[in-house]
Amino acid sequence: MAEKLWKGRFSEKTAPVVERFTSSIDFDRRLYRYDIEGSIAHCRLLARAGILTPEEEEALIDGLNRVRREIENGTLAFDDTLEDIHTHVEARLTELVGKASPKLHTGRSRNDQVALDLRLYLRDVVDEAVRRLEDLQRVLVRLAREHFEVLLPGYTHLQRAQPVRLAHHFLAYVEMFARDVARLLACRGRVNVLPLGAAALAGTAYPLDRAYAAELLGFEGISANSLDAVSDRDFVIEFLAAASICMMHLSRFSEELVLWSSSEFHFIELPDAFATGSSIMPQKKNPDVPELVRGKTGRVYGHLLAQLTMMKGLPLSYNRDLQEDKPALFDAADTLLSCLEVFGQMLPGLRIRRERMEAALRSGYLNATEMADYLVRKGLAFREAHHVTGEAVRLAIEKGCELNELPLAELRRFSKLIEEDLFACLEPRSAVERRAVVGGTAGPAVQSALEAAERRLGMAGEGDG
Ligand code: ARG
Repeated sequence: MAEKLWKGRFSEKTAPVVERFTSSIDFDRRLYRYDIEGSIAHCRLLARAGILTPEEEEALIDGLNRVRREIENGTLAFDDTLEDIHTHVEARLTELVGKASPKLHTGRSRNDQVALDLRLYLRDVVDEAVRRLEDLQRVLVRLAREHFEVLLPGYTHLQRAQPVRLAHHFLAYVEMFARDVARLLACRGRVNVLPLGAAALAGTAYPLDRAYAAELLGFEGISANSLDAVSDRDFVIEFLAAASICMMHLSRFSEELVLWSSSEFHFIELPDAFATGSSIMPQKKNPDVPELVRGKTGRVYGHLLAQLTMMKGLPLSYNRDLQEDKPALFDAADTLLSCLEVFGQMLPGLRIRRERMEAALRSGYLNATEMADYLVRKGLAFREAHHVTGEAVRLAIEKGCELNELPLAELRRFSKLIEEDLFACLEPRSAVERRAVVGGTAGPAVQSALEAAERRLGMAGEGDG
């Protein structure tokens, strides 16, 4: 059994059940790269402060790099009695370099070490999530361009409401994902702060140059309070909140893909490579990928709530409860990244059933607002126009036809303002093109939104060809 880091103070051995219960190696081993990167920076600090000789510094850094290679090759065995990744790295380092190794922990505690590892890890996760969100937005922008002239019903209350461009619908998700990126980047600023130097809680007693450490590790700031530095997990919670909102967006999108690929809508078909069949019903093609994205959203919300609850009763500063941050954070990060990846790869293969979308515009009185607006243009007050149109809709429902199928003479019974030119206004495309306001669904408005998205995503020129 390995010796404990705290063996000096204890006369009894740790109970095996406690070893298993407190061990975090099963999950925190994935921090090994960051732990070693942080330890290398710490070696440089110790050498700069004259605590390590240049020879010791080089021996330790060589040793740390060897430990990293052993972990990467899978030759280093992990073991509960060594508790966590920090202890594993140090124990193996001692075997490799001998007497300089115990000096590595001078002026440092696992409390500032684990905060450091977690920040380095999360910084990489945020950068990867931003990359994937930008890829996904590019995919949507390309779809919007490709299907620029396709119209479909826009819905409120899941009832057909007014016709919109499919491109406008896709660009709505681009807006959501752009906000997700902004949230992640704001969170990144608070992740990217160096905790090293806080030591256990009160600050290190050695003259360590923290600014130099921040520079070595690419941190933008240095924690201003050591108690806060070892016990702050706001950055984890902020990430979980940003991840939850992003998952919510992916889940709404998933719900639409599930609906749209059903026989009831049949607006789209998912690529075969991204759908699954049934073991019993030969005709089935199931949207399991969007269903699973929707299903996994709950897990990420759960992790956010778990972390808020885990933190709420903690007195300053470090408490072991904080170890629970890692399984939650890792699972949320893995879930978010995999959902973004699968979405980005699935969407380009989407088959758009334009004929089905446009056929759906032909029934459901999506042009009722157009008739009211027509009457307003002819001088009627909107309330009155709404009422007149409502009566016409009722008549059409009774007759089992659409507004534009009512004869002009019948329509004129409701208002003498109605003339032959009404019918052109009732066409879905003219309804769409009248919505020319900034942020609307008319061609020029969507075109400028597309161009703005392309500029933001560095795609300028792609649409010219
Ligand atoms: N496994 C611990 C964690 O994740 C590392 C820090 C341990 N510190 C301590 N004082 N026991 O928080």
